[in-house]
Amino acid sequence: MLLLLLACHTVPHDARHTDCATCHAPQVAAWSESRHAVAYSNPIFQHSWAETQDPWCLTCHLPDDGVTCGTCHGLKKQTCADCHEFDLPQALGGAASGTLGQSTVSEWRASGAAAAGTGCIDCHPPHHPAGGHDRGRVRAAVDAAVVARGDTVEAAISVDGIGHAFPTGDPFRRLQLSVCADLTCTQPLARVELERRLERTDDGSWMLDRDTRIPPPADGLRAARSFTLHAPGAVAWELVMHLTDPQHAAELGPRAGYIVATGPVERP
Ligand code: HEC
Ligand code: HEC
Ligand code: HEC
Ligand code: HEC
Ligand code: HEC
Repeated sequence: MLLLLLACHTVPHDARHTDCATCHAPQVAAWSESRHAVAYSNPIFQHSWAETQDPWCLTCHLPDDGVTCGTCHGLKKQTCADCHEFDLPQALGGAASGTLGQSTVSEWRASGAAAAGTGCIDCHPPHHPAGGHDRGRVRAAVDAAVVARGDTVEAAISVDGIGHAFPTGDPFRRLQLSVCADLTCTQPLARVELERRLERTDDGSWMLDRDTRIPPPADGLRAARSFTLHAPGAVAWELVMHLTDPQHAAELGPRAGYIVATGPVERP
């Protein structure tokens, strides 16, 4: 009976991890290492928050304890979809426009994963969901095949085990392919960016400028996108994941991005 009562215990919306630690140590330990725990305090957010100061930001980048126990288990439960997709103009106080600031949930709906009944938490354990900050997982999931034919380079970038576009989430996430004249890729000849870029319109609202990402796989969990680049003399390629916008990259140094993969350009 005691156990039954406890299993139905209610959680206040402002419950912090320290309120739960004595009885749910594994969940608290996993969460403490997650990006949700640092959704407000991390330097990448703090750099952009410092100039924006829009209180709206704090509805997801929750100050104090981050996206915490009470956020997902409290009486006003928030689900993954409540934060991982939003209409940008509407969120900023205007009318709904269909221009999504983040579109992970819609991408997921269009994916083979959704068709197979595979949801967010099947791929992202809820107490430690990994994403762009998990270099090991990104490196394991992403690859490229780069082949030269004369002055032209054909590149196919692929991702495995995915349930939405890649990269997804924040529009600052960009996967950049460089093809280079040297093996260590210090002399780039051509570049392509896989990104979902939003632009400000004349009336101050927002619209989608371009989406060059790997689209969600319509079937299964694997997707790819091909690009043709003009790069005479290319010998190597490099894929870099950028986590923040170029404006803040210098201040953030090595935290701003990382090399996902490199390889030689094949010449059949
Ligand atoms: C005094 C011990 C105790 C504390 C403190 C406690 N819980 Fe629990 N909780 C339990 C027990 C016992 C169960 C039932 C067995 C199980 O699922 O582990 C449970 C079950 C749960 C469940 C699964 C069942 C359900 O209701 O959906 C969740 C979620 C949960 N607790 C969240 C929390 C959160 C969040 C906190 C902190 C605000 C918290 N608990 C604090 C003892 C506790
Ligand atoms: C981002 C949302 C989210 C946050 C933050 C979160 N949880 Fe959960 N939690 C979930 C979901 C979703 C489930 C259900 C998992 C399932 O069905 O497999 C769950 C399940 C649980 C359970 C049931 C046992 C289990 O592991 O499945 C406990 C206990 C629990 N959470 C405690 C906590 C505690 C304590 C915290 C704070 C450190 C916390 N949760 C933070 C989303 C969250
Ligand atoms: C209250 C809003 C909120 C809820 C609810 C929420 N998230 Fe998040 N999530 C965030 C924010 C904010 C970040 C960015 C954290 C940071 O600054 O890196 C994030 C980051 C992530 C990441 C990226 C981690 C990385 O390595 O970069 C994943 C994956 C993720 N969330 C999955 C989930 C899943 C799965 C759920 C549901 C179980 C969920 N989130 C619920 C707000 C939320
Ligand atoms: C079939 C598995 C799968 C499903 C389903 C899935 N994801 Fe992902 N997700 C991935 C993989 C793989 C990555 C790439 C990075 C990684 O593995 O850490 C990723 C990355 C992310 C990122 C990080 C984006 C970035 O670049 O920072 C977020 C946020 C995210 N997912 C949220 C979600 C949400 C929300 C859902 C549900 C609507 C969801 N995912 C469903 C597999 C999945
Ligand atoms: C509706 C929820 C929501 C709101 C409101 C929101 N964000 Fe986010 N933000 C997220 C999610 C979810 C992620 C993680 C996506 C991913 O992993 O790509 C994120 C990621 C970020 C990141 C990257 C953080 C990192 O550590 O890599 C920055 C910077 C950021 N947001 C800034 C802002 C600013 C500034 C505002 C206010 C103008 C804001 N966000 C409002 C949900 C939100």
